[in-house]
Amino acid sequence: MNILVTGGAGYIGSHVVEELCEAGETVVVFDNLSTGHRAAVHPKAEFVQGDLKDAASVNRLFDDHHFEAVMHFASYTLVGESMAQPFMYLGDNVSNALNLLRAMVEHDVKRFILSSTANLFDDPQRMPIDEQERIVPGSPYGESKFIIERLLHWMDRIYGLRFAALRYFNAAGASPTADRGEDHAVETHLIPLILKVALGQRARITIFGNDYATPDGTCIRDYIHVNDLAQAHILALKALDRGSRIYNLGNGQGYSVKDVIDTARAVTGCDIATEIGARRAGDPAILIAGSDTLKRELGWQPRFAALRDIVATAWEWHRTHPNGYGLDQ
Ligand code: UFG
Repeated sequence: MNILVTGGAGYIGSHVVEELCEAGETVVVFDNLSTGHRAAVHPKAEFVQGDLKDAASVNRLFDDHHFEAVMHFASYTLVGESMAQPFMYLGDNVSNALNLLRAMVEHDVKRFILSSTANLFDDPQRMPIDEQERIVPGSPYGESKFIIERLLHWMDRIYGLRFAALRYFNAAGASPTADRGEDHAVETHLIPLILKVALGQRARITIFGNDYATPDGTCIRDYIHVNDLAQAHILALKALDRGSRIYNLGNGQGYSVKDVIDTARAVTGCDIATEIGARRAGDPAILIAGSDTLKRELGWQPRFAALRDIVATAWEWHRTHPNGYGLDQ
């Protein structure tokens, strides 16, 4: 298939592009490189630098290529930032998706995969969280993804555009080749921050609260390896001809912040210094995905379900790329 991947130079997008290229698909990456890295793009993919804000250039992209499917990752993605800058999220995230959808409809492209989020579940009634859980966006970021899911519902109903929305829990890890991994200009995620302590780039990791209602008092999350997440995109794309679908995407296992730190100590052999800090605003105590529907309907099976394997691949990336993509940053 000829596949357009927006945000294909970013952390998750670049790993999906890697899996698509290795599976023999033809991939065009469209990315403005505001947070992504040119060096993260698989050498077999065509790279077009551009911005979804610019509807004319999005249209040109569709005029110049015959796409059969679109995977949409290009987005602002930080929960905390979205509370401070809601218009970037409720505005740009949504209007950029509209530019993309309009170009798709005008060029008769009918398959779409959305990178959605567990930030739709701010007040879960059951754990693990399955697709029946009620939607309570936790921030303008989560709300922006929910609005796009709703846009897709109407695109399907009116134009027959088939979509899959994949609601990720905590994407982590790095390509087993260690050719690509997580490299954010301002890092906020737990695993890379811990590994930067192991590398000596940071003095310690601050645990955001140890008074949650969990066994060790720290927050519990469901970490999913980024290449397993990528495989789910490929399976979802193949299933679109049987109809649109929405899946929660995690391993179905929760690990506390302390579990992650202990695992990183075992993987790296480094004594990782910690300190207890205040709770981070907006962090729910526990988020664990129910991914049984995805497993049952699409046969998805994670290759790196164990936290140790996830952390080990991340460590291999950070150890071999202490400055991330380096010059390209
Ligand atoms: N944490 C710390 N110290 C840190 C960083 C994080 O204790 O320095 C804790 C957080 O409080 C949280 C856990 O580690 O309990 C994981 O935090 P991350 O920032 O790595 O990830 P989040 O769970 O906050 O967010 C991720 C994605 C979001 C998505 C969300 C949905 O980054 O985009 O999962 O669950 F919306």
